[in-house]
Amino acid sequence: MSYQPVLTARLNKIDPISLRDYESHGGFEALGRAIDLGAERLIEIMRQAHVLGRGGAAFPAGIKWKAVSEESGPKYVIANADESEPGTFKDRIMLEGDPFSLIEGLIIAGFATGAEQGFIYIRGEYPLAIERVQSALNSCYQAGYLGRDILGSGANLNIEIRKGAGAYICGEETALFESIEGKRGFPRIKPPYPTEAGVFDCPTLINNVETLLCVLPLVLRGPNWFKDVGPEDSPGPKLFCLSGRIRKPGLVEAPMGTPLRDLIYDSGGGVSGSGRLGGVLLGGAAGMFVTADALDVNLDFASLREIDAALGSGVVMVFDTSVDMKPVLKRIAHFFAHESCGKCYPCQLGTQRQMEIVDRIAANKTRTGDLMLLTDVGKTMADASICGLGQTASAAILTALERFGYDEVKGEFSRFGHRQ
Ligand SMILES: Cc1cc2nc3c(=O)[nH]c(=O)nc-3n(C[C@H](O)[C@H](O)[C@H](O)COP(=O)(O)O)c2cc1C
Ligand code: SF4
Repeated sequence: MSYQPVLTARLNKIDPISLRDYESHGGFEALGRAIDLGAERLIEIMRQAHVLGRGGAAFPAGIKWKAVSEESGPKYVIANADESEPGTFKDRIMLEGDPFSLIEGLIIAGFATGAEQGFIYIRGEYPLAIERVQSALNSCYQAGYLGRDILGSGANLNIEIRKGAGAYICGEETALFESIEGKRGFPRIKPPYPTEAGVFDCPTLINNVETLLCVLPLVLRGPNWFKDVGPEDSPGPKLFCLSGRIRKPGLVEAPMGTPLRDLIYDSGGGVSGSGRLGGVLLGGAAGMFVTADALDVNLDFASLREIDAALGSGVVMVFDTSVDMKPVLKRIAHFFAHESCGKCYPCQLGTQRQMEIVDRIAANKTRTGDLMLLTDVGKTMADASICGLGQTASAAILTALERFGYDEVKGEFSRFGHRQ
């Protein structure tokens, strides 16, 4: 059965800044339905559908929605559109092409949780997305979708944009709160969790853009529909970011659990370069490399965990056999050394040492014991860092060395560097 995209259905079909166009393509029907259902039922639907967060950590959204709804006092809802994971571009395309959808999803989240203030935290390097979301927000205020007594429901919500300033760490939810509060983007120690004490120490619901986009078809079609798209333990539609040595790179919407092979050869039109698949980076710089042997894995959270890989934010970066992997790993190591915020030592020092060793690998100047040291540094960062940046900073590098047959003596990868 062929899949009909739902999250991207309006992309390239509507004028992204026309509210009228959005409404004539089904826009704000979900909000009307959500108000009819009421907050309690909405949260129940989120739980029944088992929506897992699309920002990388795959946390069940319904649990967070419920927890925030049960808190009293001022509360916040936030859309995380920082999107700084290398290889991820899904949120940008959606914000530029269909900004009202995210706003509608965030209004529903505010209605369900009782939050009256919302923020959309957008990566500063996305000026067009910022402009279009701001224009869409203005139209929503004028039409009564935002502000006081939204559509006569009695609910109030204001939404403002906050711009990131180019730091990867500011996508981490607690660093993002610090950034909104006007402070340096340092992650906080958890607990307390955002649902109890988030931005301005108030209960906060934070979701990725795609998670909030999933809310619209879910509200309109119901939890059974959502659960029928993809596997039972991680259901729903999914946005994949196809890039690298692929004939048709770009954004692909497919059911969660789509085999990697289908994504590369059907949606992506096959491997470019040498035409032979060397490996795939799944989940971005914070993700893991897999070899061509993993082509038949289903792209969903649980299936990837089973092969010690991760879906992360949906990055599928393809490498053909002719690629020189050393500069690729060097780039990743420099990225983490540059982006580590320096709050905790395992990551502050570990990302530096990792970068130095990978630099030696790239320059064919390794010292005896370098690989052992790199593994040790990587494991220490994974175990002892206080946030996800340090915990994942070594995963791509270590999986590439292990899975692509890096020979320390020859300084070569057995699976790469072949033209044929
Ligand atoms: C270093 C780092 C960067 C992150 N960047 C993003 C990001 O750009 N967008 C995002 O939605 N989540 C990002 N996250 C995950 C967030 O902390 C958080 O889990 C997410 O916004 C929750 O939304 P979800 O439950 O809908 O996935 C990042 C996490 C870490 C550790
Ligand atoms: S793990 Fe890295 S990025 Fe996270 S708090 Fe520690 S130093 Fe900062």
